[in-house]
Amino acid sequence: MAHYLVTGGCGFVGSHLVEALVQKGARVRVFDNRSTGKAENIAHLKAEIELVDGDLRELDAVHQAVAGVDYVFHQGARPSVARSVADPILSNNVNINGTLNLLVAARDAEVKRVVYAASSSAYGNMPTLPRSETLSPQPASPYAITKYVGECYCRVFTQVFGLETVALRYFNIFGPRQDPTSQYSAVIPKFIHAYLNGSAPIIEGDGEQSRDFTYIANAVHANLLACHAEGVAGEVFNIGCGQQTSINTLANLIGEMMQVDAKPVYISARPGDVRHSRADIQKAQRLLGYKPKVELKAGLRHTIDWFVQRCNL
Ligand SMILES: NC(=O)c1ccc[n+]([C@@H]2O[C@H](COP(=O)([O-])OP(=O)(O)OC[C@H]3O[C@@H](n4cnc5c(N)ncnc54)[C@H](O)[C@@H]3O)[C@@H](O)[C@H]2O)c1
Repeated sequence: MAHYLVTGGCGFVGSHLVEALVQKGARVRVFDNRSTGKAENIAHLKAEIELVDGDLRELDAVHQAVAGVDYVFHQGARPSVARSVADPILSNNVNINGTLNLLVAARDAEVKRVVYAASSSAYGNMPTLPRSETLSPQPASPYAITKYVGECYCRVFTQVFGLETVALRYFNIFGPRQDPTSQYSAVIPKFIHAYLNGSAPIIEGDGEQSRDFTYIANAVHANLLACHAEGVAGEVFNIGCGQQTSINTLANLIGEMMQVDAKPVYISARPGDVRHSRADIQKAQRLLGYKPKVELKAGLRHTIDWFVQRCNL
């Protein structure tokens, strides 16, 4: 059985990937500094995985983490546009220098493939919808720049060093284990958390901004396909559902599903936020065989149920 490294495996996306790999019987190592991730996200898998505490900014530690590994899922990063606006240097150091360290170590260890968590934020505010991979990126925040530079490094490592890489541009992934409590949390866990606590959801801007919300199972499915698909080294793929939902619609939908009637509170828009986003997923469908498995409403149902259950523990 192949040996996998998941960087950022204590985080939201990483922990679901680790779970899927363990379910397949794979050997899994997690590398994480637990800055935004939590060991409790993978505590139920503790006996089946190797958890290495370490920082992507330390090349020696990354070399050690990659030793003996066949495939890497590189999820480790300092996520969020707002975090990068608050501290662009830290986002740059983790997301760009950390990714470069990972690629150098993967090259040296002759890893078979690195699958990189890229971001739809690379597209910025361009008017064209849906976003196709043929469009020229226009990152509109420090975070978006860092994620885009990471995918450029992936492509260049394939071209220059022959290290196989695949970059997946995630479009607003959501699901169980996404942290609802930080000021930098994503909108879906924040809304569910607010409704569960009897408070109003807070909307930044007029709420007419829209996103292609993508349930976590779809992102996991895409990663597993990207790891083993033939002839895709050096490529970039959009991973979304190809649907667009406004934040106002989302707040209503979650309120209805949770049977709560609380009017949103509107505050000023966040700097660096993009207005609309929707993935063109044809390339991933064609070359990876990717097809969203769980649509928005079903994903919200799973996510709400998980938060409700956790609240009742
Ligand atoms: N969730 C989304 O909607 C989304 C969208 C686009 C891209 N992404 C990308 O997907 C990946 C996973 O995001 P997530 O939502 O699971 O976020 P997350 O914060 O839950 O996970 C990131 C993980 O990286 C770890 N990490 C951070 N800095 C590190 C460092 N210096 N060394 C080692 N580990 C470090 C964190 O502790 C955390 O466990 C990230 O690369 C993110 O940029 C996520």
